[in-house]
Amino acid sequence: MNKGLFITFEGGDACGKSTQVKLFREYVEKHPMKDKFVFLREPGGTELGEEIRKLLLSYNLDAPVPKAELMLFLASRAQICEKVIIPALNEGKIVVADRFYDSTIAYQGMARGIMSPEGILNLNRSILGNITPDLTFYLKLSPEDARARKLKMSEGFDRMEMEEFTFHQKVCDGYDYIAKLESERFHIIDARKSIEEIHEEIKQTFEEKLIEKTSQLSSDDITQQ
Ligand code: TYD
Repeated sequence: MNKGLFITFEGGDACGKSTQVKLFREYVEKHPMKDKFVFLREPGGTELGEEIRKLLLSYNLDAPVPKAELMLFLASRAQICEKVIIPALNEGKIVVADRFYDSTIAYQGMARGIMSPEGILNLNRSILGNITPDLTFYLKLSPEDARARKLKMSEGFDRMEMEEFTFHQKVCDGYDYIAKLESERFHIIDARKSIEEIHEEIKQTFEEKLIEKTSQLSSDDITQQ
């Protein structure tokens, strides 16, 4: 069994994910295991990945066609998996990723309709191997609530955020699909709750997962002796 712990944060636009990742990061700074954490974001997280991120999210050039978009997300993920995530998990680190393949299932699979969600899952597995998060926090917000929140936001929107309402509705369907398929790792959070309530829920669920993983590892040690 993998010695590390792999945690991901997922959700559609305006669900409050970035705020929660930031709060969790602040919480971790005072955690007894703080040196074990590795934080990253997708797309990005490596030098090449950050360049790919610019290509994907900016308006500066010819927007990628859907298949090119899918390949660019996967290229960024292949880089970060091999260079950062897999080595960190092998060293027993706690990897916290802001988005992973569930985003590709929701955005490129369901919303863009490039291929079925199962097709995206298989493509990910064939490129990246069987790397699956141990715990995924999915901040679930209806497309209607997301639209209402976005109307109140003042900052500019990136290329994905500017998509139509129906696109974001399909993103939600994509998340619901994978959350049902891999339900054992999903912790679904009602993103309408207050920031503090959500943060508490995340901390508590994370600590429970950490205890579970630690006890699994120590029972593995005993079996091997
Ligand atoms: P980001 O600024 O990180 O947005 P957020 O705060 O919403 O996470 O932008 C990432 C965007 O890329 C976001 O709209 C979701 C999209 N995305 C995909 O379409 N497919 C993917 O595989 C990933 C990782 C992200």
